[in-house]
Amino acid sequence: MSILQETYTLSNGVKLPKIGFGTWQIKEGEEAYNSVMTALKNGYRHIDSAEGYRNETSVGRAVRDSGIPREEIFVTSKLESHIKTYEGAKQAFEETMANFGFEYLDLFLIHAPWPWSEMGKECDEGNREAWRAMEEFYKAGRIKAIGVSNFEPKHLDNIIGNCEIVPHVNQIGYFIGLDQSKTIEHCKKHDIFVEAYSPLGIGYLLDNEDIQKVAKKYDKSAAQICIRYLLQKGTAPLPKSTHEHRIIENADVDFDITAEDMAFLDTIKGDPRRWE
Ligand code: A2P
Repeated sequence: MSILQETYTLSNGVKLPKIGFGTWQIKEGEEAYNSVMTALKNGYRHIDSAEGYRNETSVGRAVRDSGIPREEIFVTSKLESHIKTYEGAKQAFEETMANFGFEYLDLFLIHAPWPWSEMGKECDEGNREAWRAMEEFYKAGRIKAIGVSNFEPKHLDNIIGNCEIVPHVNQIGYFIGLDQSKTIEHCKKHDIFVEAYSPLGIGYLLDNEDIQKVAKKYDKSAAQICIRYLLQKGTAPLPKSTHEHRIIENADVDFDITAEDMAFLDTIKGDPRRWE
């Protein structure tokens, strides 16, 4: 069985394909449509989008045009980070569904604990309000699983301690070198599944010489080592690419990194990402 057909099981029993196709920074229109179509054609069955990526319309169209039954594709979207009210969340979800042209969504996440423009702001009440709307859609069967993204333990505790449903997923930036141990431990304790966005450090990690050394030893690319590492950590990596050969390469990760080499990769520290 290809790794693209393998799944993790969330705390509510929903199955989530182990590798997802990331679509952050893939432009709405032809680029998003073609990339998602290419990923699906090459066996991906898990597509990660967001309201904030502004590409839901093309992602939805590719999923619907693919000819693959809707229930065989796992699609995620995320509530925009500045929406922190019950009514706002309800309205935004309806817009997301209209953009996609779907009858249900597989996973819907609160994109961040604070608006991107006010990182670090305390929004506990707003997150509870948004969560309440998401719980309602979940109970009505319009979303198969609900979760959060970029949440640290204190943000998770706000939901867990005050709301009915414990998030099924926390999607965080996670790649070789980035220490997410505190959040991951907290998620494990509460049976919250961790998804890893930017598994290649938005591409910058691929220049790391230590990772390249390990890649050479396995006759794999640095990207494949980065993705395999996250799978062996028990998370779901969400690599993004607009190039077919890379989309294929990123899912060709059916090999084992030894415990010794995993420990070596664990010694790598730092966040190489740049946004200029
Ligand atoms: P592109 O879309 O031009 O292929 P991340 O998934 O961590 O966000 O990283 C995405 C970045 O890494 C994108 O710039 C993407 O470029 C690049 N990328 C994705 N897969 C590969 C690969 N297998 N080899 C080299 N670069 C890659």
